[in-house]
Amino acid sequence: MDAGTTAYRQATALTMEGVHHSFGNQPAVREVDLDIAPGEVVCLLGPSGCGKTTLLRIAAGLEVLQRGRVTLDGGEIAVPKGRHVPPEKRNVGLAFQDSALFPHLTVLENVTFGLKGQPAHQRRERAMTLLEQLGMAAYAESYPHMLSGGQQQRVALARALAPAPQLMLLDEPFSSLDARLRDRIRDDTLHVLKKVGAATLLVTHDPEEAMFMADRIALMREGSIVQVGTPRELYCAPCDPFVVAFFGEVNEIQGVVRDGRVQTPVGPVEAGWLPEGSQALVMIRPEALRITEHFDPAPEHRYSHVVMAKLLGRSSLLHICAHGEDGREAHLHARVPGVFLPAEGQRIDIHLDLSQVFVFPSTVAGTGT
Ligand SMILES: Nc1ncnc2c1ncn2[C@@H]1O[C@H](COP(=O)(O)OP(=O)(O)OP(=O)(O)O)[C@@H](O)[C@H]1O
Ligand SMILES: [Mg+2]
Repeated sequence: MDAGTTAYRQATALTMEGVHHSFGNQPAVREVDLDIAPGEVVCLLGPSGCGKTTLLRIAAGLEVLQRGRVTLDGGEIAVPKGRHVPPEKRNVGLAFQDSALFPHLTVLENVTFGLKGQPAHQRRERAMTLLEQLGMAAYAESYPHMLSGGQQQRVALARALAPAPQLMLLDEPFSSLDARLRDRIRDDTLHVLKKVGAATLLVTHDPEEAMFMADRIALMREGSIVQVGTPRELYCAPCDPFVVAFFGEVNEIQGVVRDGRVQTPVGPVEAGWLPEGSQALVMIRPEALRITEHFDPAPEHRYSHVVMAKLLGRSSLLHICAHGEDGREAHLHARVPGVFLPAEGQRIDIHLDLSQVFVFPSTVAGTGT
């Protein structure tokens, strides 16, 4: 091992190298490399069945490693057919979607359970602080069967955080909470994690949740990691169409590269790095379409127009019919902040924000979402 590699290892809380896992002959995780720095929150994001939980279970030691290598703070914890440090010896906090609480213990006893070797009053204080932060202090003396699913989830989270582990592994920890409560608990959890300084691997299939929680996001598809980076890198510099589409609805237009550009009904888009004459896929986020009403249309000119406008709350969604200069038309969705509800048929001008437009060779496999 050279000096550079050693330094890298020391700055890493969890490292997974070439991790591969199959159920029978069906691969669930394929050659995954992932590392988490101390105190860093990494979100494992991806559609249902892409292997997120399996990867988390391997990190936790709940699945025996089949191929690859897993280290925790530089120390090997799993090698195929070799070392397998059991979950309880990994100093890892676990909260899974179906985390079972001990039914015969109260909420407080559940949370203090893992706090061995501390005086009783300290254990109680630590547990009550976490229960307060997660809005569960009033239930300290309740038993798990008296709580709703979402309340049980919050207790499981407090129990996982209580021993201040070096690594937290959280699998959809907010999934049983309603939208408003979820926002609050998410926020509280983020602050608790950052305060404790725990390296965290958090599984979610919700891109907004990942962007809210993560320092870095690892986006998975069919067992592989497609792209790892900051939320901004994934959103603003996506490496393939799947990444663009995973973060929200997107308008897709096929075109041919001519003179280094692709013509679309909303204007030309640069594509100079693609071969001349090749097919390209242009992906335009709804917020890339800047709409202004055109009140003085020249009669002979064909204008783009509004087909339908809907208020979604924080933004308005416009269904528009875009007329290209080459006569092509396209039905597109535009998202405009606030209340903007032009009448059906309203003529419009469309300006394209090119920072939210992405071009790929159209031979790349479909977005699959
Ligand atoms: N114990 C198991 N036995 C057989 N196949 C399994 C087992 N656990 C998971 N799989 C399969 O492995 C693949 C990955 O499953 P995994 O639970 O890791 O997905 P996930 O990304 O967590 O999905 P979700 O978002 O729905 O929780 C799926 O095809 C699943 O059917
Ligand atoms: Mg899962």
